Amino acid sequence: METLTTVADLRDAIRARRPYQKRIGFVPTMGYLHAGHEALMRRAREECDLVVVSIFVNPTQFGPSEDLDKYPRDAGRDQELCRRVGIDLIFHPEAAEMYPRGAASWVEVEGMTEVACGAMRPGHFRGVTTVCAKLFNIVRPDRAYFGEKDFQQLQVVRRMVRDLFMPLTIVGVPTVREPDGLAMSSRNSYLTPTERQAARVVPRSLQAAQELVEHGELETANIIAAIEATVAKQPLAKLQYAVVVEPETLAPMRILIQEGRLLVAIHVGSTRLIDNAPLVPKAPPPPAL
Ligand code: PAJ
Repeated sequence: METLTTVADLRDAIRARRPYQKRIGFVPTMGYLHAGHEALMRRAREECDLVVVSIFVNPTQFGPSEDLDKYPRDAGRDQELCRRVGIDLIFHPEAAEMYPRGAASWVEVEGMTEVACGAMRPGHFRGVTTVCAKLFNIVRPDRAYFGEKDFQQLQVVRRMVRDLFMPLTIVGVPTVREPDGLAMSSRNSYLTPTERQAARVVPRSLQAAQELVEHGELETANIIAAIEATVAKQPLAKLQYAVVVEPETLAPMRILIQEGRLLVAIHVGSTRLIDNAPLVPKAPPPPAL
């Protein structure tokens, strides 16, 4: 396993291996790797000949008052996990390598970036799509692996790849959870022990919504009210948004006439946690009169 820090060195390392290693798999990350990242890396390792992982805390996807400076980092531990999984190359650039002086180009997906996290974090998805486009151009992977944990990000990146005819396949990987249901996230390390207990309200609220739908509820306003009620019972938690969207376009749904995706963001203490779940309607709605 090799770690490269410049675009030129990574390109050379890939070029040297490409003739022998036909399918290139790529896992973009911001590091502080956990079992969620590991699931993406293992899937890539199974499906591809050469696997590249990037570790880059991308400044352009953080807002001015967000956690860029305190985002957790542990390069040694990340290297160790990559080695255990059998990753071939790690790309670990500095910000100035990815955004050289004078860089003025951005990639922006419209519409579906204006709901949910996009509405709360202006410019966030522009930063994500721009860095992913840069990384795809540097690595030139056949497949790139993204977690369903960040469902909006997964769908926005898929849209970008389709719209811009980028020559790769985006593979979505199911969310890896702690035994109590909390989705793995690098940001979970911000939680105090008491907040960590309180954070169980996040998966619990998704379950409450899914149970309602299993019992026949189709009106998303009622589903969201159930989430509000669940979160309100936990004093350390505050709901930022809950929305049910059409999975491909992320257009908000009023009635679950087909499968929808529930997206939530909940503050626990000062840590913002996101999660999501499919909502599969039990039966078709009664015909309109
Ligand atoms: P990061 O938060 O490090 O996540 C990297 C990848 O791991 C993303 O595709 C994310 O969805 C996935 N992931 C995180 N937690 C997961 C979990 N519990 N189960 C399954 N997959 C999980 O997402 C980013 O970095 C950045 O926005 C990035 C795409 C690297 C662009 O900067």
